[in-house]
Amino acid sequence: MADTQFDLVVIGAGPGGYVAAIRAAQLGMRVACVEKRKTLGGTCLNVGCIPSKALLVASEKYSEARHHLGAFGVKVSGVELDLPGVMKHKDDVVKSNVTGVDFLFKKNKITRYTGLGSIKAPGMVTVTKDDGSTEDVTARNILIATGSDVAPLPGVTIDEKRIVSSDGAIALDAVPARMVVIGGGVIGLELGSVWQRLGANVTVVEFLDRILPTMDGEVSKQMQRILAKQGMSFKTSTKVTGAVTGGETVKLTLEPAKGGEAETVEADIVLVAIGRRPYTQGLGLEAVGVELDDRRRIKTDHHFRTNVPGIWAIGDVVAGAMLAHKAEEEGVVAAEVMAGQSGHINYDAIPGVVYTWPEVAAVGKTEEQLKAEGVAYKAGKFPFMANGRARSMNATDGFVKILADAKTDRILGAHIIGASAGEMIEELGLAIEFGASAEDVARTSHAHPTLTEAIKEAALAVDGRPIHI
Ligand code: FAD
Ligand code: NAI
Repeated sequence: MADTQFDLVVIGAGPGGYVAAIRAAQLGMRVACVEKRKTLGGTCLNVGCIPSKALLVASEKYSEARHHLGAFGVKVSGVELDLPGVMKHKDDVVKSNVTGVDFLFKKNKITRYTGLGSIKAPGMVTVTKDDGSTEDVTARNILIATGSDVAPLPGVTIDEKRIVSSDGAIALDAVPARMVVIGGGVIGLELGSVWQRLGANVTVVEFLDRILPTMDGEVSKQMQRILAKQGMSFKTSTKVTGAVTGGETVKLTLEPAKGGEAETVEADIVLVAIGRRPYTQGLGLEAVGVELDDRRRIKTDHHFRTNVPGIWAIGDVVAGAMLAHKAEEEGVVAAEVMAGQSGHINYDAIPGVVYTWPEVAAVGKTEEQLKAEGVAYKAGKFPFMANGRARSMNATDGFVKILADAKTDRILGAHIIGASAGEMIEELGLAIEFGASAEDVARTSHAHPTLTEAIKEAALAVDGRPIHI
């Protein structure tokens, strides 16, 4: 290939793209990154993971002060919501994170282009800037990391005022009296929880017969019960067939998923959260012949090469879970393979966390998956009700469940509902990565009193010998 300005140009500065750029720079490549947003960090840092978690933490503190501190003997009076203050907290957290990525780009000498990137030819990306001017950037490799955007729902047009996507739902200027969330997945439950804690009446409409349908069935069921106890309402096996906005309200038409009598529900705000779709608009993929799969995701091999030599793709725009840390791992592998290394990714050890209260966390296989695959397994379960630390925290909802191979005892999956489940799941992710058995975890000392003792007990329960239950 003729001499190029860069070894790698990354399109998209989300967790996949910016991490790939940094890893490539560490490996000695000359790297550029094209991002259409003014700030780095992609969906995750700007409008996704980070702002939603800032709102979850703030709303949890408000809810604690209003409803839960009394039970610890802490009297609080005059608790008031300062919504602009909550939003300021969120905006400050986003700002410090995105400027952190700026700093990392400078530290790693990554050249940044602000504008829309499109692939003119293998080895050449055209950047179209806000003022309409263009600039061509040449590189030996192009990495597409353009992420995803909101999946639309026919008949329910998002205006980001009354009918919002997650982008609008993290920036409402008043607490809605009634909020309907379409989609009982991760975004619906997290952002539904935020507004419910801040005072909204939240109803979740889910097409399938359970919320969190990709998670372990027992986890879904128990989580629905826990959230219902907190005041969230659920309409499962239900579809939304239309929405009419009039003045301050939206009238939604709902029908049983399998058909039947329709009903009308009114809401002040409707959140559409039925999934996200890969974002490939304006990239010029057709012209260079990059193949997509049947769900319009970019097709790659196991090393993230597309069918066009020198063009690679990672993150939400390719197959697999739409998670920031999955995108990051793929970015690292792609950069390492470009540099001649082998790269490593184990999809069975990538955790998923739902940051509700309590949190839900999972890694590896669900019981449903193991049954479908015909794998014989043993399950060990331990409830937080029997854990001393959880009792001291008034956080006794939930359990740890470990699934291990019936013959070899190797851990195949783990599922946790509980306070700090998202932190605790890492122990079991590491166990899976290292090919550990339930016995390995059961024989590992866990500090007392900690929530992680429930992990040890669940591992003991795999062999029918828990101590504290
Ligand atoms: P993105 O982060 O989407 O980044 C892609 C970037 O490419 C964007 O900045 C976009 O502007 C840019 N771009 C697109 N096309 C072009 C172009 N042609 N030229 C230039 N730039 C372009 N995941 C988690 O793991 N944990 C969470 O807690 C979590 N919370 C979430 C909460 C919400 C509300 C949402 C919406 C998502 C959440 N996610 C979470 C998912 C997570 O945000 C994504 O999985 C992750 O951002 C994917 O990273 P990516 O790098 O593939 O793409
Ligand atoms: P999702 O895939 O998690 O959930 C969508 C839900 O909507 C599913 O339960 C689905 O059955 C339901 N649904 C689909 N069509 C429907 C319809 N017409 N009517 C009613 N329900 C319908 O998608 P979500 O919540 O939009 O999130 C998008 C992505 O962002 C997810 O892939 C997730 O991984 C990621 N994300 C991750 C977070 C985390 O890791 N904590 C937080 C937020 C998002």
